[in-house]
Amino acid sequence: ALSTPAGAPRRRTERENTVPEPGAVTIVVPTFNESANIRELLHQITESVPSRLPCEVVFVDDSTDDTPEVIFQAAQDCPFPVTVLHRDEPVGGLGGAVVEGLKAASSDWIVVMDGDCQHPPSLVPELVASGERAHAGLVVASRYIKGGSREGLAGGYRIVVSRGATWLTKTLFPRKLHGISDPMSGFFAIRRSAVTADVLQPLGYKILLELAVRSRPRQVTEVPFVFQDRFAGESKSTAQEGFRFLRHLVGLRTASPVARMVVFGLIGATGFVPNLLGLYALTAAGMHYVPAEILANQLGVAWNFLLIEHLLFRERRKHRRWWDRAGRFALLANADLVLRIPLIALFVDRFGMGALSATALALVTTFVLRFAGTEALVYLPRRSGKHAGGSRGRTTRRTP
Ligand code: GDD
Ligand code: MN
Repeated sequence: ALSTPAGAPRRRTERENTVPEPGAVTIVVPTFNESANIRELLHQITESVPSRLPCEVVFVDDSTDDTPEVIFQAAQDCPFPVTVLHRDEPVGGLGGAVVEGLKAASSDWIVVMDGDCQHPPSLVPELVASGERAHAGLVVASRYIKGGSREGLAGGYRIVVSRGATWLTKTLFPRKLHGISDPMSGFFAIRRSAVTADVLQPLGYKILLELAVRSRPRQVTEVPFVFQDRFAGESKSTAQEGFRFLRHLVGLRTASPVARMVVFGLIGATGFVPNLLGLYALTAAGMHYVPAEILANQLGVAWNFLLIEHLLFRERRKHRRWWDRAGRFALLANADLVLRIPLIALFVDRFGMGALSATALALVTTFVLRFAGTEALVYLPRRSGKHAGGSRGRTTRRTP
């Protein structure tokens, strides 16, 4: 039976009670203001899916326009059940919507596809059949294998960005994305038994990447597809979505403390830039270099704080107020500097180390202490099971 998000009101109807046959497919379609595409999409699905595979369609909608009403109208002519989950609080964006749909799906297979007809519905039965043949948990519809292409992504600039992002992502997750040529695809089939919704922390557009990195099924296969032109309207992706993607990458890559420490160090290293610029400006203005360096160092600290807040610990900020975090962060950063000299002296005097190795050891020691301190004292760890994309907010399920 269809599961209901906690606390969501639901209305049962005859159609919703139709339990899909085994092997059937739930098509999950995230929509954000797609009213001009719905009728065409449902028409294309009607043409090519139900005669080959029993299906139901679940729209997960965050629209501010009349998309839900248009879906209800168009669903009257569909020979399969159509459900709309409307989210009042669109947590996690596109990815959050898809996870909501994965949870609501009741068939053995779930196919995720866009609502603007860029993903050909005629491929839906083939994705499921390939998954069955290969005993796969995940089937990716790929633009980057023989037979696939990207007609719908016109413009050299978008192709370069898309290719670059794919390359970067595959480089960051070589093992998890092995055998997946198109981890950015928004078109894929997943076996319901392979969905582990509670480990997912969806953030924006790249939900397949999220699934592959956090809960990759053992067997993965690919089917080529031709990315079509949008039927109507414009892409909903914005520059802001680009930044969200970067945060998503950092979030996925820093699941382990060691990886977090590396990113913490890399961000720290970039602090030299504002630090040196500040020092230059202050000494040029006539300040003595010692107070100038103390002040300029605060500039580097502020820079690091901003980057670390927004890239590394974004999800862990809610435990303290921002000025509390800023104060603690600055205190730890300055303690790092103050501690370094006596530590070097200790290593040299007590343990007879050379000045150079003592300095290196002191740097590493204060760095690790500072990282551990920042994790424990500024950003408390995330409590598991309290992720975005979950049952926060209200979701209304409606069946036409
Ligand atoms: N519910 C919900 N919430 N749906 C959303 C949201 C949101 O915040 N943002 C976008 N959508 C829906 C759109 O309405 C559409 O049905 C689908 O998600 C894809 O959005 P587009 O805005 O058309 O994406 P795109 O064409 O730029 O990108 C697509 O292709 C890329 C590959 O080039 C997506 O499939 C990407 O995931 C994919 O990487
Ligand atoms: Mn699109």
